Amino acid sequence: MRSLSPDRATLAYQDFLRRAKGRWARDLYRAVAADFAAARDRAGPDALADADAAEAVLSATSARYQYFGWLERHLQRLKYASPRGILAAVDAERPALAAELAAAREAGVARGELRLAPGFTPPRYFSAVDFHQHPGGVAGDPLAGVAYDFGRQTTMPAHLDPDEVHRRFTAAVPAGDCRRILDIGCGTGRSTLPFAARFPSAVLYGIDVAAPCLVRAFQRSDAAGVRVEWSQQAAEQTDFPDGHFDLVHSTFLLHEVPRPALAAITREVHRILAPGGRFVSLDFHSPPGGVFGAFIHYGHARRNNEVFMRSFCETDFLGLQRDAGFHEAVMLPFDDGSGTWAADEAPPHWRFPAQLFVATK
Ligand SMILES: C[S@@+](CC[C@H](N)C(=O)[O-])C[C@H]1O[C@@H](n2cnc3c(N)ncnc32)[C@H](O)[C@@H]1O
Repeated sequence: MRSLSPDRATLAYQDFLRRAKGRWARDLYRAVAADFAAARDRAGPDALADADAAEAVLSATSARYQYFGWLERHLQRLKYASPRGILAAVDAERPALAAELAAAREAGVARGELRLAPGFTPPRYFSAVDFHQHPGGVAGDPLAGVAYDFGRQTTMPAHLDPDEVHRRFTAAVPAGDCRRILDIGCGTGRSTLPFAARFPSAVLYGIDVAAPCLVRAFQRSDAAGVRVEWSQQAAEQTDFPDGHFDLVHSTFLLHEVPRPALAAITREVHRILAPGGRFVSLDFHSPPGGVFGAFIHYGHARRNNEVFMRSFCETDFLGLQRDAGFHEAVMLPFDDGSGTWAADEAPPHWRFPAQLFVATK
C-alpha cells in the first residue's frame, strides 16, 4: 500500500506546522486558561456562566485567546490547503496513486470484499461540509482517503502514533464471543483492523459513505492479510438483516452527524445487533474542565468546521440509546494516551474530550 511520500520541503513545512500546533496545545492553551481565570476573578463567576459568555468575554479581552483561535484555524487550513500542504502533495503523486487505487478498487470488487454502490448519494449533511477543514471532505476526490490518512498523523496535538488510539479503543471493548463485528463510519480502516487481532474468529465488516475511504480501507486490509467485508452504506439505513452482529462499533463518527441522523443510526444499530450484542463507541463528549472545557471544545468545533460537534455534546446520548431500546448505556472515561480527567478538572494541555460509550441490547 503506497503512502504519500512528499518532498523534503513539504515534510519540513508539515513538521513546522506540527511543532507550532504543539506550542499552541501547551503554552498558548495555558495562557488562555490563565486569561480565563483572570477574567472570572475580575468579573465574577456569573459573567462567565457558560461557554458562550466565556467566548464573548475572552474574544473581546484576551489577545492571547485571539491568537490561539487564529492559530487553531489556520494551522489546520495550511496543513491541507497551501503550496506545501497535503492536497498539493497528493497532486504531485496523483498519477501513480490513482493507478494503484484503481487497481485496488477493481481487485476488491472482483474478490467480493469491496461493495461500492454506484450512484450512491451521501447524506447532504456530510457532502455539504468540509469537516476538519479538509477541502472537498473525504469523498470529494478519489485520493481523499490517502490525504485523510496522511493528515491523521498530526490530528492529535500530543502527536501520538495515529494508530495508538485505535489499539486502545479495541482493548477497551468488553470481551465476548463475537461472530460478526461491524465498524460504522470505518473511514480508511484504521479503526477496523485492530479488531482482527482482538477477535480472531470474528468476521469483520466496515461501512462508510465515502468510496475513496473504502478503497483505501481495502488496501489496508489486503496489505495486512485480513479479510474485511467493506461496503458503501449510510449507518442510518443498512442492508444487514436484523440481529446480524454481536458487536457494532464506531470511532469518531457520532460527532460528525446531526441529531436526527444520530437518532436514526442508534435505532439502526439496535436493529442489526443480536440480543445481548453491544454498541461501543469512541467519541468526543462532556469536555472536562467545566465552563472552560466547554468554551475550548466548542471553540474548536467552530474553528475547525466540526459543525455537529457541539450538538453531539449537548445531546443526552445515553438517553437516546435507551429510547432506541438498549437496556444498558454507560459513558466511561477513555485514556487516549494523554491521561483522563475528572469532569471538573481542565487538562493541562489541549486534548479531545474522548469518551467511551458502551450500550447493550
Ligand atoms: C472522522 S472519520 C473516522 C473514520 C474512522 N472511524 C477512523 O477512526 O479513522 C468519520 C467517518 O465517518 C464517515 N461517515 C460520516 N457520516 C456517515 C454515515 N451517516 N454513515 C456511515 N459513515 C459515515 C465519514 O465518511 C468518515 O469516513
